[in-house]
Amino acid sequence: MKQSLFLTGLVAAALSTGVAASGSPVVKPRATTTVTPITVTGNAFYQGSDRFYIRGVDYQPGGGTGVESDPIANATACARDIPYFTKLGINTIRVYAVDNSKNHDTCMNALAEAGIYLVLDTDTSKYSLNRDDPKESYNSVYLQSVFATVDAFANYTNTLAFLSGNEVINDVNNTNCAPYVKAVVRDMKQYIGDRGYRSIPVGYSAADVSQNQEILADYLNCGTDDQRSDFYAINDYSWCDPSSFTTSGWDTLVENYTGYGIPLFMSEYGCITNNRTFEEVSALYNTEMTGVFSGGLVYEYSEEGNGYGLVTIDGDTVTPNADFTYLSSAYAAQTNPSGDGGASSTSAATTCPTESSEWDVANDDLPAIPSAAEKYMSTGAGTGPGLDGAGSQDAGTADNESAGTASAGSGTVTETSSASSGTSTKKSAGAAIAPVDMKALGAFMVVVVSMLGGMALL
Ligand SMILES: *[C@@H]1O[C@H](CO)[C@@H](O)[C@H](O)[C@H]1NC(C)=O
Ligand SMILES: *[C@@H]1O[C@H](CO)[C@@H](O)[C@H](O)[C@H]1NC(C)=O
Ligand SMILES: *[C@@H]1O[C@H](CO)[C@@H](O)[C@H](O)[C@H]1NC(C)=O
Ligand SMILES: *[C@@H]1O[C@H](CO)[C@@H](O)[C@H](O)[C@H]1NC(C)=O
Ligand SMILES: *[C@@H]1O[C@H](CO)[C@@H](O)[C@H](O)[C@H]1NC(C)=O
Ligand SMILES: *[C@@H]1O[C@H](CO)[C@@H](O)[C@H](O)[C@H]1NC(C)=O
Repeated sequence: MKQSLFLTGLVAAALSTGVAASGSPVVKPRATTTVTPITVTGNAFYQGSDRFYIRGVDYQPGGGTGVESDPIANATACARDIPYFTKLGINTIRVYAVDNSKNHDTCMNALAEAGIYLVLDTDTSKYSLNRDDPKESYNSVYLQSVFATVDAFANYTNTLAFLSGNEVINDVNNTNCAPYVKAVVRDMKQYIGDRGYRSIPVGYSAADVSQNQEILADYLNCGTDDQRSDFYAINDYSWCDPSSFTTSGWDTLVENYTGYGIPLFMSEYGCITNNRTFEEVSALYNTEMTGVFSGGLVYEYSEEGNGYGLVTIDGDTVTPNADFTYLSSAYAAQTNPSGDGGASSTSAATTCPTESSEWDVANDDLPAIPSAAEKYMSTGAGTGPGLDGAGSQDAGTADNESAGTASAGSGTVTETSSASSGTSTKKSAGAAIAPVDMKALGAFMVVVVSMLGGMALL
């Protein structure tokens, strides 16, 4: 089917304004079309006073090509795809990587015209935490890119949420990354507040690893409010049609997350073991789940060579696959519950998990923000590096990595340096004590007491 079949007048009008061709000067984000921003209360999202459920798809056409590109910096691509979003009846897309040096006005305003919000991952391949080397990759070069992405999207009213990371922890043996994941959430929340932006929710998208997905949920929602995530998102492929609420195990999933004090949604779902008819939609937007879950995003819009595509894209032509029609029908058939859908209006922090064979985090301390990144809080991040450049994963040095810990409960990201000697070789990086950095020692208060708990476990 050709895009022109679905191109509405409104979308066409929006797309005719301000085309951001590559190479044009980057202009500040301008939200010409506004929607009601999504807010968080208790364990749910709200659009004004109405409960908001994410009905969406994951969107990264070209994601399978091996060359990272930004689908929402391309006015042609989003004009081609938005009519299909409308056909699906969705209200949200998730984009995994954007070019923070480009302007996104055309697509973001066209999405707003169509009533579609954005859940945005702030990492890119080159500017991200490295799960094999979390300490080195948590550095100021990385945070500058993350903050520049926040700057590029904070002004759009249809920016629903930021994902600080996707599946950084993807196995049983890399839960040692958790303090870094949590530190990035903390830093983003502080940046959004200090820059005076709307409180755009910040959270994380967790891999389908049964051994630690729920422990991580507790970890990201424990401690002081400045460190807690605003929501948690899980990737879950356990409902494989034909199935049911009980056969899939989603009943247990709901039981396990009952009482979780922040919004929870599926950042990826849609098992392809058998053909997808999206029976799970009738459960996800039904009161058997809505007290705990706020909807989800189907993986994924376009076929990228892995069998998950709802449509096949060839240049300007989009061809819906069988599961596109099933999803469209399933969304249309399942209306949202009335009222609050069983949501809880109070936000509750969890108790931080303790170290175990499945949780390689020794205590509740987080790495302090790298001192070289602190200035962005007051000056702004400046121009983003985009998708190219040297990348950040190996950019860390003693000068621009974290040089200490910030203990949970301090309510501050101010660096505290340890007077202890020696470098920890233990992978439990939350408690790892960086080599003494004389400059940091001079610049920051030495707080020995806060380190004692962590040291005892080293
Ligand atoms: C946000 O957008 C408005 C127009 O909608 C514009 O006036 C303003 O300068 C923008 N702010 C930033 C920080 O880009
Ligand atoms: C934008 O998307 C269109 C349609 O997929 C594609 O043909 C074009 O090459 C893209 N432009 C850029 C600059 O990536
Ligand atoms: C990181 O530190 C190194 C060594 O001091 C320095 O050469 C580099 O420019 C720093 N990078 C940034 C972005 O601050
Ligand atoms: C973790 O386990 C995977 C196999 O599941 C292995 O490929 C990887 O190297 C391991 N990583 C570490 C840091 O031990
Ligand atoms: C729920 O929790 C139980 C007990 O920890 C665990 O065995 C089970 O795998 C969990 N189920 C799901 C679907 O997360
Ligand atoms: C899945 O769909 C394909 C194409 O629509 C069809 O050929 C195949 O028989 C279906 N498989 C099952 C198990 O229904």
